[in-house]
Amino acid sequence: MQNTVYIMGIFSRSALNKKPNDSTRLIITTFLGIVFGFLIGVSFPSLSVSKLNFASGLLPTIDLSYMGENKLGISTHSVSNSSSNSTTSSSAKLNDTSKIWIPSNPRGAERLPPGIIVAESDFNLRRLWGKPSEDLTNIPKYLVTFTVGYNQRHNIDACVKKFSANFTILLFHYDGRVSEWDQFEWSRQAIHVSARKQTKWWYAKRFLHPYIVASYDYIFIWDEDLGVEHFNAEEYIKLVKKHGLELSQPGLEPNKGLTWQMTKRRGDQEVHKTTTEKPGWCTDPHVPPCAAFVEIMAPVFSRDAWRCVWYMIQPAHEKIGVVDSQWIVHQRVPSLGNQVEQEHHFYYFISVSERCRKEWTMFQNRVASAENEYFKKLGTMRSNSTAH
Ligand SMILES: *[C@@H]1O[C@H](CO)[C@@H](O)[C@H](O)[C@H]1NC(C)=O
Ligand SMILES: *[C@@H]1O[C@H](CO)[C@@H](O)[C@H](O)[C@H]1NC(C)=O
Ligand SMILES: *[C@@H]1O[C@H](CO)[C@@H](O)[C@H](O)[C@H]1NC(C)=O
Ligand SMILES: *[C@@H]1O[C@H](CO)[C@@H](O)[C@H](O)[C@H]1NC(C)=O
Ligand SMILES: *[C@@H]1O[C@H](CO)[C@@H](O)[C@H](O)[C@H]1NC(C)=O
Repeated sequence: MQNTVYIMGIFSRSALNKKPNDSTRLIITTFLGIVFGFLIGVSFPSLSVSKLNFASGLLPTIDLSYMGENKLGISTHSVSNSSSNSTTSSSAKLNDTSKIWIPSNPRGAERLPPGIIVAESDFNLRRLWGKPSEDLTNIPKYLVTFTVGYNQRHNIDACVKKFSANFTILLFHYDGRVSEWDQFEWSRQAIHVSARKQTKWWYAKRFLHPYIVASYDYIFIWDEDLGVEHFNAEEYIKLVKKHGLELSQPGLEPNKGLTWQMTKRRGDQEVHKTTTEKPGWCTDPHVPPCAAFVEIMAPVFSRDAWRCVWYMIQPAHEKIGVVDSQWIVHQRVPSLGNQVEQEHHFYYFISVSERCRKEWTMFQNRVASAENEYFKKLGTMRSNSTAH
């Protein structure tokens, strides 16, 4: 019942904010107010809707006269702010402890009863008709995203076919061409996000918020130029689960301009988590680039790992690995670079790599100063408490 009462609060408050000439909405709002008021009256004999006040330019105010014990936690203060004297006096009867305030609710939603809060979502498409509970015949447990341009459509088509119906397909379009993808049957079931000339991580930060992707066990955030002939997503998921990998990537075919030993596919095992690099590259065999390391072209995150990474913290080292028995080829097709006007091309490549270096430095500085700040604070707290 608390929910119903609060909903009414929202309706009537929004009605108060309406200008009187917004008559259609006002009528609907008023009607809803009456319906809710009626429901409360019916189902809560100890509360009576004693007055529906249509004074002051048809603004409905709903007056809950309190008649029982003050234990319901109903917030009528927000409902009953009007020039009407009777409303004010009746709300004054309610004690402050009757206001909903739940600090553990998400920030900004503290005044909502917990039962009404839906903090998470997904990308499942719904019908516009029928029962909501029957909308979904198949609820995908995994999410795969590709950052794509239309020119790579055939490769993406091949990639998507390696992912079963257990995967939601989400395409980030950096070239603004979206509707043309409907030539592929699967495209109509896919989610398309279009924003021109942005990088994969720009989309990921904005459209893969941990609360939005919370229903997916694993999230693939992949480039468009991967060769997936030797890759099967269901098999991959099985291996990642079996070996407890929170952050992983498929092994990379070694004959294609490989830079890191760690991500190179090994023929003799399912998964590896460490490697040896060229002498002098790794000060510690348990840290990157000799372990705990995947590249950004084809990472696969567990739900928890993505939550961490979205906030820019790395997951535990021993849960990072490369899946050898499902592997891919990095075809290295220059893609986003082609989006630049020809006359800027040369400068573009110089300035993009400059920008990359700059952003990497900025990121390292951010991590360092955030850690510094944290430990400094911790230090003063410790010294304060030892001083006492
Ligand atoms: C309540 O009404 C008074 C005037 O009647 C107004 O000053 C005040 O801002 C209102 N409060 C809210 C929360 O709307
Ligand atoms: C509220 O009622 C009091 C007397 O009970 C009156 O003096 C006052 O003017 C009224 N206020 C409004 C806004 O009607
Ligand atoms: C609120 O309730 C407490 C005890 O439940 C009581 O002591 C106090 O006077 C009440 N305040 C108002 C404004 O009714
Ligand atoms: C989807 O996942 C379920 C449960 O893990 C599995 O039984 C089923 O085989 C998967 N579907 C496909 C097409 O692999
Ligand atoms: C510790 O002491 C410093 C300086 O006296 C003060 O600014 C800071 O707020 C204190 N921290 C805590 C947690 O008490």
